[in-house]
Amino acid sequence: MEQLLQQIEKYKQEITAFVAAGAEEVEQFRIKWLGTKGLVKSIMGEMKNVPNDQKKSFGQLLNEFKSVAEAKLEALQQSHSPVTGTKAPAVDYALPGDPVSVGSRHPLTLVRNEMVTIFKRLGFAVAEGPEIEDDWHNFGAMNLPEDHPARDMQDTFYIRKPEDGNGPTWLLRTHTSSTQARVMEEQKPPIRVICPGRVYRNETISARAHCFFHQVEGLYIDENVSFADLKQTLYFFVQEMFGKDVKVRFRPSYFPFTEPSAEMDISCQICGGSGCNICKHTGWVEILGSGMVHPKVLENFGIDSNKYTGFAFGMGVERITQLKYQVNDLRLYSQNDIRFLKQFTGVV
Ligand code: DAH
Repeated sequence: MEQLLQQIEKYKQEITAFVAAGAEEVEQFRIKWLGTKGLVKSIMGEMKNVPNDQKKSFGQLLNEFKSVAEAKLEALQQSHSPVTGTKAPAVDYALPGDPVSVGSRHPLTLVRNEMVTIFKRLGFAVAEGPEIEDDWHNFGAMNLPEDHPARDMQDTFYIRKPEDGNGPTWLLRTHTSSTQARVMEEQKPPIRVICPGRVYRNETISARAHCFFHQVEGLYIDENVSFADLKQTLYFFVQEMFGKDVKVRFRPSYFPFTEPSAEMDISCQICGGSGCNICKHTGWVEILGSGMVHPKVLENFGIDSNKYTGFAFGMGVERITQLKYQVNDLRLYSQNDIRFLKQFTGVV
């Protein structure tokens, strides 16, 4: 008996001290101690030789011995066994990790950021205004009084007209020019801002038109600002955006808030000027409206039009993006199709 007790004690020490170098040694440990022909089983077999009055206490001792072996095996398996075929969760550091899908910036965001960066380098600050706007800031202040025919240029989503005729008529802003009004309301010249933002028009959605899109507006008011400054600023912008080879041309145009007004075309970035669908086979694409701020607009905000002059411009972010990335269906920008959006991953 004494010998058996000593033997068990020795085994326990051996088990506790055991260290495995790998999964194979763990398996050998299992076979040696807990296998069908293992030492735990054979020690259990000694039970029959134990005198009856000691069977109970010896039985307890044996159970404890078995638990020690089992606990050790489990611990060994946890730290060594391969991922599969074990009950314990184990980490195999050699396996490749689960891919984490990272998002990408929207192409319009990328282009808007680039536009903002270019104008910031010229000293323009960024101003933003509300998308739900009142009639005055969107139209009235910009020299488009009620019933002015030029309002027809922009099909407007009106939200609410005041029933009693008092208070403003609310609408979704049709252009970022409304932010010009808000800036002039708050700041005195010199003013040099760009106003990026979303605008809304009541248009049927197609490849070429959408009920919302994005613009970047520019406004520069100071003493002695001339049309030459306007041209040079915009020329600098397109060269930075599209490269030094880009050509520009200005065409006279009409906007109620500028006088004189001009639209600017650039040489088609899709076909290089040889003619394609985007430029309607002219080699030129219109990208913005611009002009010298109308004296009436300045006076609307108490800015002395004899002392100060200014230029303004407004352009569509979608159009610039189309020319930069050859996207020819406006609807792609708002369909959230991951196959489209993923193509801009990595474009900074
Ligand atoms: N607001 C005009 C539009 O949405 C664009 C524009 C034209 C803005 C001339 C200007 C400007 O600031 O001077 O079509």
